[in-house]
Amino acid sequence: MRDATPQTVYLKDYTPPDYLIDQVELVFELDEQRTLVRAGLDVRRNPDSRSASEALTLFGEELLLVGISLDGQALAAGDYTLSDEALTIHRVPGDRPFRIDIENIIDPQANTALEGLYLSSSMLCTQCEAQGFRKITWFLDRPDVMSRFTTKLIADKTQYPVLLSNGNKIGAGNLDGGRHWVAWQDPFAKPCYLFALVAGQLEYVADEFTTVSGRRIALEIFVEAHNVDKCGHAMQSLKNAMRWDEETYGLEYDLDLYMIVAVDHFNMGAMENKGLNVFNTKFVLARPDTATDSDYEHIEGVIGHEYFHNWSGNRVTCRDWFQLSLKEGFTVFRDQQFSGDRSSPAVKRIEDVNMLRTRQFAEDAGPLAHPIRPEAYIEINNFYTLTVYEKGAEVVRMLHTLLGAAGFRQGCDLYFKRHDGQAVTCEDFVKAMEDANGVELTQFRRWYSQAGTPVLEVEQAFDAGRLTLTVKQSCPPTPNQPEKLPLHVPIKLGFLAADGSPARFQYRGEFCEEATVSLTEAEQRFVFESLTEKPIVSLLRGFSAPVTLKIDRDPEELAFLLSYDSDTFNRWEAGQQLVSRIIFGLIADIQAGRTLTANPVLTEAFRAILADAGADLSYRALLLSLPDEGYLGGQMAVVDVEAIHQAREFVRLSLATALSAEFQRVYAEHHQDESGCFDASAVGRRRLKNACLSYLTALEKPDSYALAETQFRSARNMTDQIAALSAVVNSRNPTKADCLDSFYRQWQREALVVDKWFTLQATCHMPETFATVQSLMQHPAFDMKTPNRVRSLVGAFSQSNPLHFHARNGDGYRFLADRVIELNTLNPQIAARMVGGFAQWRRYDTDRQALMTRELRRIVETEHLSKDVYEIASKSLA
Ligand code: PHE
Ligand code: ZN
Repeated sequence: MRDATPQTVYLKDYTPPDYLIDQVELVFELDEQRTLVRAGLDVRRNPDSRSASEALTLFGEELLLVGISLDGQALAAGDYTLSDEALTIHRVPGDRPFRIDIENIIDPQANTALEGLYLSSSMLCTQCEAQGFRKITWFLDRPDVMSRFTTKLIADKTQYPVLLSNGNKIGAGNLDGGRHWVAWQDPFAKPCYLFALVAGQLEYVADEFTTVSGRRIALEIFVEAHNVDKCGHAMQSLKNAMRWDEETYGLEYDLDLYMIVAVDHFNMGAMENKGLNVFNTKFVLARPDTATDSDYEHIEGVIGHEYFHNWSGNRVTCRDWFQLSLKEGFTVFRDQQFSGDRSSPAVKRIEDVNMLRTRQFAEDAGPLAHPIRPEAYIEINNFYTLTVYEKGAEVVRMLHTLLGAAGFRQGCDLYFKRHDGQAVTCEDFVKAMEDANGVELTQFRRWYSQAGTPVLEVEQAFDAGRLTLTVKQSCPPTPNQPEKLPLHVPIKLGFLAADGSPARFQYRGEFCEEATVSLTEAEQRFVFESLTEKPIVSLLRGFSAPVTLKIDRDPEELAFLLSYDSDTFNRWEAGQQLVSRIIFGLIADIQAGRTLTANPVLTEAFRAILADAGADLSYRALLLSLPDEGYLGGQMAVVDVEAIHQAREFVRLSLATALSAEFQRVYAEHHQDESGCFDASAVGRRRLKNACLSYLTALEKPDSYALAETQFRSARNMTDQIAALSAVVNSRNPTKADCLDSFYRQWQREALVVDKWFTLQATCHMPETFATVQSLMQHPAFDMKTPNRVRSLVGAFSQSNPLHFHARNGDGYRFLADRVIELNTLNPQIAARMVGGFAQWRRYDTDRQALMTRELRRIVETEHLSKDVYEIASKSLA
């Protein structure tokens, strides 16, 4: 058990801060084990304070106090109280500004939680979001306290030649004893969660960007020396993002310098600290031979995301952590738009929706479901969720859909103008959208407060040129929300004529080929007129709302939409529905002990896709992809892990068998060495070819083994090399051990590639996987203190290998719980993420439920359990 039950924090309890800190002067004497921090705070009482207390309470954790003074007068022990989480000065002036000076010591080397100041390889760096600043010094660590920071860094010049912090460099010099100093000043007031410092032996790549108004910005990416050859793509991505935000949102960068530092040890993807982003190396480093096409895309997306935060997050920030989606949902939406514009909007949308439906829908249907603006938390780090980020982005996207691109832009302009320099709420964002557009979004606001995925059930009736759609909406109960109110759901739709062409219709008097209708009632009828024949409906185009759509269709209708829908999302979706339908039929056959037979409708649909010469090859590769096992499981009342796998593999093998000549032809047609080329057609050719390779692998024939092995041995880019290795490993290919070994030897010095090697084995569906995972835990390259490595093995196995993680004997569950318990003391944030593997236990059969809950209870009963793990594990059991 925990030492004491942790406190819950509620949104309804929000009160303005009693004090404000206008200026902060920080001095760091950096040392791996004993860093001295001096903080000078200019404090004054907040005129909006609602309290009469004369005390000032500052948050602080794991700090060693050296001394504290008020207006230059040292405080005595009786003047303040110190606890594990705070420092309270009993009396401070209420009628005038005053100065607090604090000196304290911290130990970065002992900090394996990677929050506050910590050591990554040989560099020192910080992570302050959400509440890491309080592990650096005592402070009003809350986002509605915004201060101007100056930071002086002092360190050994050989060990830490590079010393960075936010803003502009204002001075530097040498000191005795081989030390030096650098001072930084950030002219923008910011919450302390955006503070950062970095110190180390770093090299950098420099470039320049000229803003739309002609200001020259220096761009610098800092990495360890052996990585300087992998920064080019990140730098180009940064410039693309800067240009895009000017063109799309009219937003310009505001400092003279933009720095990015890549670190090996990082709990998340990256962090938007003002002027000094700190990134997980995974989202910076890329070279054609080390990074896949998807890696290149993710890097551009994350670089964009952090850059976009400079406005949506930094210039306008969050009042409190319940408003996290204000910056994250909005910024994810912005990075999705950016990535779509940079590559293929159709492909990007499908990838995003696929992720949302597989993972966020599961979260929203389970014990950890929460609204995008949560109402309570125990540990805020647990709320950096798919719901806050991805569903949050969908909510912003719906505003974009409802207001149109121009109206949405006006709303954003007003939001940034009205709230520049402020810490605000989701409500302020919606209000700006309303005011700028002269509309009313009262009902729409429910998306912020209601959890759960709404279900739309649609019925159609056609009579004399008139189509009536009856749409019912409902939303299943979620924790603390048994009843739900109807939401405002934008439904984008169109109709297809019998020849596949768009059918024109009249809606509310206007003729159109496509319309967006607003569903606001629990049940509502929509009438479309002037149709010449009964059309095939295409609903929820572009996935216009994050809902589950239920509509009765036969396989022929789905195949028709897969061939003809002009909406690229719905065309793909029809294919997914068709395959899912067939897989669920097979699952029923498996459960009833019937023999399985291939479905000719699907074979013919795939034959057509393979024969089509359509231009967007990445899109065509997506049309050939089968829904993943996690997504299929999410649609079953009781997840049947083995049957899902068996049925899906049966479909893969039957398609491969029936269409082997086609797969081989398409493979050969697109197999060429274009390593180093990342334009849409080269990327598309690799995707399509590797999709074919994966089907051919299912044949388990000498030819297909040879094909995979040859591609593996001759590949000169990581996309082809890893796709081939995956084909080898997920089959009985006799060269498997040899290929895995040679891959490791080739790449053992590239940590990010070694991560791929772990993940590939952890997600393998062959029978020996669990034994492999256990032995990989003993591999010299495995390290529990490196989050990327933990995610690549433990995370990948428990979250992306349902077949083996959910093994009937409970081995996978015991394995995960053991890892969670180990991680709990090392890195609570990562430990809590790993518990997520158990959250869906109610969806399985009773034997598995018993096994999973036993492990969850074992976790909850662990001594010295962190708040992070306690919250996830106890809520999962509730
Ligand atoms: N704010 C970061 C982002 O999404 C995420 C993050 C949160 C990073 C907490 C580190 C710690 O861009
Ligand atoms: Zn973000």
